[in-house]
Amino acid sequence: MSRTVYVNGAFVAEENATISIFDRGYLFADGVYEVTAVIEGKMVDFDYHMERLARSLGEIDLKMPVTIKELRQVHRDLMARNDLSNGLIYMHITRGVADRNFTYPENTKSAMIAFTQEMDLVNPPYVETGVKIATIPDIRWARRDIKSIALLPQAMGKQAAHEKGAYEGWMVEDGLVTEGTSSTAYIVKDGVIITRPLSNAVLAGVTRRTLLALAREEGIETEQRPFSVAEALEADEAFITSASTLVLPVVEIDGHEIGSGQPGPVTRLMRETYIKTAREG
Ligand code: PDD
Repeated sequence: MSRTVYVNGAFVAEENATISIFDRGYLFADGVYEVTAVIEGKMVDFDYHMERLARSLGEIDLKMPVTIKELRQVHRDLMARNDLSNGLIYMHITRGVADRNFTYPENTKSAMIAFTQEMDLVNPPYVETGVKIATIPDIRWARRDIKSIALLPQAMGKQAAHEKGAYEGWMVEDGLVTEGTSSTAYIVKDGVIITRPLSNAVLAGVTRRTLLALAREEGIETEQRPFSVAEALEADEAFITSASTLVLPVVEIDGHEIGSGQPGPVTRLMRETYIKTAREG
């Protein structure tokens, strides 16, 4: 069945959706994006996604083409028109259409697209077994805090990880894990959840933000500091978070079993707590 997608103010069938070849998103990856999870018809952490979107836009001097209120309505309309109960809503905003020129064009209207992707986020196939990670070099730019649509390094990294039989790649810089190609990375040691602090080196994960708050509510200690691959291999548990995976256990890194080789108790508790909170949302 064809989806209904959103393109610059209009809802159209996906096969009729068009954008200009001069869109700066297409020519320069000059744009930013967000991906919001939908669980049982509820958008998860939508306000946090919009907060991060506004920040990303501000960092590249790009104006919102619509208000946040309208953006929320676009998301709701897409869910309704596509009968989406579980899955993702992708949206991006680019600097719009202009003759190819590196400097920002003046008076160009920013462009926006959005679409839905059905996915069973609560019961994906690998949640019971956990997933494998392959470490890869972090070859990205220096402003990873901006949720840029320039994702070639991440696509290359995820592909390399898949070719090694892993589900996700953990990117490594100076011996320290930055993050997953499309997720935040965590380890658990002696009951403490450890994840890298926010900086330009990583994206400020929305799922991370909620997870850390929920961990504190559950009385689980959290520590925001970088960790090395060597430390990760010695961890009791490891996991990743993102809008598309929620909280997903990691059971192997570069062929080494983590902890018992099974999803750990802290990871399980955090996944359950996260999903419960999202459902109640
Ligand atoms: N990616 N780090 C990177 C590099 C990411 O691309 C993502 C999300 C995250 C987690 O952020 P959040 O919890 O806000 O989803 C961390 C999305 C899901 C994607 O590109 O599909």
